[in-house]
Amino acid sequence: MSKLFENYARWDIEIISGNGTKVYDSEEKEYLDFTSGIGVCNVGHCNPSVVAATETQLKQLWHTSNLFTHSLQEKVAEKLVQSSMGAAVFFCNSGAEANEAAIKLARKYTGKSKIITFNKSFHGRTFGTMAATGQDKIKAGFGPMLESFIHLPFNDLQALEKELDHETAAVMLEVIQGEGGVNPANEDFLQGIEKLCKEKGALLIIDEVQTGIGRTGKAFGYQHYNISPDIITSAKGLGNGFPTAAMIGTEKVKSAFNPGSHGSTFGGNPLAMSAANATLDIIMNADFLAEVEEKGNYLSEKLDDMFAKVPEFKGTRHKGLMIGCEFSKEVSDIVTQLRQNGLLVITAGPNVIRLLPPLTVTYEEINEALEILANTLIEQKQLV
Ligand SMILES: Cc1ncc(COP(=O)(O)O)c(C=O)c1O
Repeated sequence: MSKLFENYARWDIEIISGNGTKVYDSEEKEYLDFTSGIGVCNVGHCNPSVVAATETQLKQLWHTSNLFTHSLQEKVAEKLVQSSMGAAVFFCNSGAEANEAAIKLARKYTGKSKIITFNKSFHGRTFGTMAATGQDKIKAGFGPMLESFIHLPFNDLQALEKELDHETAAVMLEVIQGEGGVNPANEDFLQGIEKLCKEKGALLIIDEVQTGIGRTGKAFGYQHYNISPDIITSAKGLGNGFPTAAMIGTEKVKSAFNPGSHGSTFGGNPLAMSAANATLDIIMNADFLAEVEEKGNYLSEKLDDMFAKVPEFKGTRHKGLMIGCEFSKEVSDIVTQLRQNGLLVITAGPNVIRLLPPLTVTYEEINEALEILANTLIEQKQLV
């Protein structure tokens, strides 16, 4: 009998080791991991440079506190700032914490409290980020929610025009809703939000927890859309599996946080920063990011071709290696069978198969995954 809370519907396999795109379970079965631990191990499991950097740090110093100056934090902050619109970085430990920091900064900077988010969004499970999230199932049983979050339909600029007023502190969104179904925002919608925010004195916060750190073929997802947010948040891929996260703000908002405004005991600790520093060295490189885009295009085209023979297939949506394949039926059977056949993928809502392979995935591994997929669809008699 497990001594753990049963808040996860766990799969019945235990992953014991990993190397690049491959992971191995307790029975030594090999899998191609096209989940990357839900968009986390972006440079592959046990990436040698990240391992070397954390090993060195492990023997030198694990933790001091944010009472001390910290050159490795400065170094990682510099890399994040260089790769984005940011001027200042706050380090914390998870996506939800980074979003909490963004919400606090927006409220403090504007002196207002109303924050607009969108239906089907996911921003985390703390009290603030749960209230920000636009999915009832995440909130069930925890009410009443924190006030001052308003949820609007995604990609509906008219609805936003009606709601965004001078009382609004911020609009917060994912440029591609990950947990909500791999739903991309339209460019017009994003540019319209930016314009309206400027007009009304509200901040634009982009939640890059899933779309950031190269996942979509740019350093951060917002960079596809010719917009410049005030705040972005990052987590998942930042430490390649070592828990770490960041809130990145522009010069304009920097001075709203002063000593005592916000903090975190573990945020940006030396081990986390050594992992992030090595990860960013690999990802924040134009050639690497261009390859992510190419591999994403290749994989999603092949998926479209293959699934076209499944009657319930509705289409593939992707940017870089963030890929969602939508069906008009539930996909959990296919996902389970794929797992049995050695390919790990996840769902995004009941009808979408989500693929988030490591950004270092090779074409050979992509082809191998496609072959497992084709065989699984034949086994399941899905093809016509
Ligand atoms: C877009 C987005 N924001 C926030 C979070 C929450 O991150 P964490 O689980 O690290 O708190 C997630 C997690 O899936 C996410 O996808």
